[in-house]
Amino acid sequence: MAEVTSSGTARAEPAGLRPAAAPVLPRRTARLVLRPFRHDDESDVLAYRGREDVVRYMPADPLQPAGAHAFIAERLPATQITADEDGIILAVEYEGRMIGDLLIKAGRLADRQAEIGWAFNPEFHGRGLATEAARELLMMAFDDLDMHRVWAQLDPRNVPSARLCERLGMRREAYFRQDIWFKGEWGDTAVYALLAAEWRAAYPAG
Ligand SMILES: CC(C)(COP(=O)(O)OP(=O)(O)OC[C@H]1O[C@@H](n2cnc3c(N)ncnc32)[C@H](O)[C@@H]1OP(=O)(O)O)[C@@H](O)C(=O)NCCC(=O)NCCS
Repeated sequence: MAEVTSSGTARAEPAGLRPAAAPVLPRRTARLVLRPFRHDDESDVLAYRGREDVVRYMPADPLQPAGAHAFIAERLPATQITADEDGIILAVEYEGRMIGDLLIKAGRLADRQAEIGWAFNPEFHGRGLATEAARELLMMAFDDLDMHRVWAQLDPRNVPSARLCERLGMRREAYFRQDIWFKGEWGDTAVYALLAAEWRAAYPAG
C-alpha cells in the first residue's frame, strides 16, 4: 500500500520498481526443459497429479481423467506476469516426458513478491530434478521478473518439499500452528522465503 506521509501526500514507490514481464519460454537447464503446458500433456499429468500421495499436502484431490482437459486448459494461458495476481505455470520435461509442474504467482505487482510451488511425478523423485527446475524458476523470478522476494508455503509434514526449499537456500520464516482446516483436520503451515539480494549473493553470476 502506498504510505501516507505526515504531510498527507502519498509517498512514491521506491525507485527501480518496474512492471514484471513475460519471460522467454521455453527455458532449458542441464537436464530439463521448462515450457508452457500443452494439451498432449494429459496422460503425463494424470500419471502424477492423479495420485493420492502426490496431492496429499496440496489443496487438491487426485486429478481424474475426466478433469484432465480442463486442468490443462486452465494452465495454458498462464505464461506471463504483467498484472496483479498473474501467475506462470510451467510443465517440466525430462527426456521427452512431462514429469512435473512449477508455479510462480505474483501478488500485487508493485510489491514484487511471488509464491512458488511444485509437483513432480514420484517416478522421477530423488534425482535432484525438482531442485534443478526450481532453481531455474528462481532465476526467472529474480532475473527476468525482477521479484524482490519469493516465498513458498507448505504443510511441515511435507518433508520432501521443506527439504527442497532448504536446498534452494530458502529460509523458514514462519510456522503457523493449526491455521488451516485441511483434508479433515487442522493443519500447520510453514512459510519459506528468499530475497533477491540473498539469491544474488549465492549466485553472483546469475
Ligand atoms: C516436493 C517434491 C517435488 C520433492 O521431490 P524430490 O525428489 O525430493 O526433489 P529433487 O528432485 O530435487 O530430488 C532431491 C533428492 O534427490 C537427491 N539428489 C540426487 N541427485 C541430486 C542432484 N543432482 N541434485 C540435488 N539432489 C539430488 C537429493 O539428495 C534429495 O534426496 P534427499 O531429500 O533424500 O536428500 C516431491 O516430493 C513432490 O512432487 N511432492 C508431491 C507434491 C507436493 O507435495 N508439492 C508441494 C506442495 S507444498
